[in-house]
Amino acid sequence: MAEIRIRNTNERIQGEENVRAFLDKQEVLYEHWNPSKLAPELQEKFVLNDEEKAQILSTFDAEIRDLAARRGYQTWDLIALSDATPNLDELLKKFEQVHTHTEDEVRAITAGRGIFIIKGTDDVGYFDVELEAGDVISVPEHKPHFFTLMDNRQIVAVRLFIETEGWIAHPFEDATFQKA
Ligand SMILES: [Fe+2]
Repeated sequence: MAEIRIRNTNERIQGEENVRAFLDKQEVLYEHWNPSKLAPELQEKFVLNDEEKAQILSTFDAEIRDLAARRGYQTWDLIALSDATPNLDELLKKFEQVHTHTEDEVRAITAGRGIFIIKGTDDVGYFDVELEAGDVISVPEHKPHFFTLMDNRQIVAVRLFIETEGWIAHPFEDATFQKA
């Protein structure tokens, strides 16, 4: 289940209801899928062939289509990152800059872990959302954020989009950014 860490105070927020209530206030959608629906051999696999990717997408087809219908997402794919990914460090460096998009950034974690760092309301400042398998998050358009991996550097996630254009990252320069 997702956990929040507020960077200003190091306060942690745990428990599905608390996490959801906090994220609601920050206008970040948080939902949960059942990660055990996935075939056991795919729950810890981070290098995937096309057939395995299709299997994961079809396992969560109902959840994906439900979310897409409610939120207007038109297209989706699956991303897998691990130390086996060519240029992972370069890729992460590129990710780790605060930016915005003109549409929601949606990730449904099907295996592994990851963190969204999000700029909250002024009273909260930057906060981390630590995600694990089953966690689904939608960061609203124009909300400054970035995404990175956790120590195990492994993740598989479904990404949903309205249109490819909306995914372009616009750098967000912020003197108040809290590095950790
Ligand atoms: Fe982003």
